[in-house]
Amino acid sequence: MGGIEVAAITSYSKEQLIALQKELSAEYEAFKARNLVLDMSRGKPAGSQLDVTNGVLDALESYITEDGLDARNYGVLDGIPEAKKLFSDLLNIPKEKIIIGGNSSLNLMYDTMVRLMLFGTQGNTPWSKLPVVKFLCPSPGYDRHFAICEDLGIEMITIPMKEDGPDMELVEDLVANDASIKGIWCVPLYSNPQGVCYSDDVVARLATMKTAADDFRIFWDNAYGVHHIYGEKKLADIFELTEKAGNANRVYYFFSTSKITFPGAGVSLIASSESNVAEIKKHMGVQTIGHDKLNQLRTVHYFQNAEGVRVHMKKLAEELKPKFDIVLKTLDKELEGTGLATWTKPLGGYFVAIDTYEGCAKETVALAKAAGVTMTGAGATFPYKKDLHDRNIRIAPTYPTAEELQIAMDLFCVCVKLAGVNKLLENK
Ligand SMILES: Cc1ncc(COP(=O)(O)O)c(C=O)c1O
Repeated sequence: MGGIEVAAITSYSKEQLIALQKELSAEYEAFKARNLVLDMSRGKPAGSQLDVTNGVLDALESYITEDGLDARNYGVLDGIPEAKKLFSDLLNIPKEKIIIGGNSSLNLMYDTMVRLMLFGTQGNTPWSKLPVVKFLCPSPGYDRHFAICEDLGIEMITIPMKEDGPDMELVEDLVANDASIKGIWCVPLYSNPQGVCYSDDVVARLATMKTAADDFRIFWDNAYGVHHIYGEKKLADIFELTEKAGNANRVYYFFSTSKITFPGAGVSLIASSESNVAEIKKHMGVQTIGHDKLNQLRTVHYFQNAEGVRVHMKKLAEELKPKFDIVLKTLDKELEGTGLATWTKPLGGYFVAIDTYEGCAKETVALAKAAGVTMTGAGATFPYKKDLHDRNIRIAPTYPTAEELQIAMDLFCVCVKLAGVNKLLENK
């Protein structure tokens, strides 16, 4: 950075802080007077983004599948061949490893965890019969992953996130020495909420590390695997690496088109070793006769092939890029150099994560809320909603319009600064 050196607010004297607090309070009150009602809490697409995909609504060319089956009727537990081929080509996963699910990958994750609790896997003791089951939770992370563990009584261990994935030294040490640690949550590309992309080294270490538990499992939730915005990050092939290391059963891979077509009305999948797939199908076949094949078919007819999905994702990126630009530019303009916040600069995905000044996240979110802007709850990105430093906040830029987003970000930055200054004054 060239130009004038600005002193960090964290180095201000008490008098300077009091003056700034007055200024910020006036700005804040002016926002409040506007009676805003804006929502930046959930990673939902805006209406305009959904419109890009409207073609899928009448894409169904025929209800007969490639192999002559009537998709209107019962049959086919694990997905029609053309849907398996589409996702196999898109994600570079062999078809034999793929089971196509219903409208939600989170549903598949929950069911997978419940099966492990009730039935165990590959002849190991069902987890619910063990005195304690623990899971590693790289954090900040996705609140709904943590909710699954909490719901099923699985103890969560917070693992700090680094720039290229979870703190692997800590992960390796923990899993090597504690057989009650049964797994880890991973969002390996453009993670929710930081947009972290796992490096090749991290993926290789996860695939090859020694685990005290034979039935240690990686929940590989690649929800944002094709959601590039600024360029394209590549992810190492976890299946290839686990197979080579003799850990073929270690990974459950999840994916869905929720953030490609319509959330709640897309197509999901779980992929795993052929042996795990057989195990899953045994139980899934009791749970359902089959998932929605018409939805699978119209998704295939709409995209035609993997390249069709990639082209579509470029259109969505055009829709999302201006919004990410607004968030990142506003953070730069308002908070850079203040010493009151740091944030990630994701290259894709759905979120930006910010760390406020220590102990200020809750107050920041409360201030924004009182002025009409709803953010994801402070703490939500950590197991048990406990952010020990009270500083992480997830920003979800997709839902508001660009104009609304700009207003919300301007207000949000005032709140970050006001909460920070209040805290600094408390400590003076
Ligand atoms: C990391 C991650 N996984 C899964 C989901 C939900 O996926 P689905 O709609 O397929 O259940 C989300 C939605 O925000 C997510 O961020």
